[in-house]
Amino acid sequence: MKRLISSIGVCAIIACAFVPVRAADMAAAKQSYDTFCVKCHGTAGKGDGPAAATLATNPRNFTDCGTMGKISDDTLFNVIKNGGGSVGLSKDMQAWSTGFGDDEIHDLVAYVRSFCKK
Ligand code: HEC
Repeated sequence: MKRLISSIGVCAIIACAFVPVRAADMAAAKQSYDTFCVKCHGTAGKGDGPAAATLATNPRNFTDCGTMGKISDDTLFNVIKNGGGSVGLSKDMQAWSTGFGDDEIHDLVAYVRSFCKK
């Protein structure tokens, strides 16, 4: 019995070690984006949402692969979590840390990346 339990334990450890980083929940991220981000960043991520015209800084064009390729996931994560001001971008990009957990923010990063179609 003891042996059985310990082999179950070993299996659990091995399984854990091979579980990849959790897959992004793109459907949930799209829903969050469409609800909270579209008005500035635009449905297609071009930075042309209806509210963009009122901003001093145009939101980034997420479809511009060249520019987006130079920005790390960490930076995108940071801006969504802590706001534009945290990395010297416009403060019109508010911090979303009170609205979204880290996993949801990672999913939003993946979603924002999906606008660049190579
Ligand atoms: C009030 C308008 C507004 C809203 C709403 C808004 N943003 Fe932004 N966002 C901006 C502006 C302005 C910037 C800074 C300029 C830029 O895009 O580089 C920015 C920057 C960003 C960046 C960083 C781009 C870069 O170049 O590093 C990301 C990522 C981002 N926003 C994602 C989001 C997400 C996800 C949401 C919704 C949860 C959201 N934004 C909501 C206006 C907005």
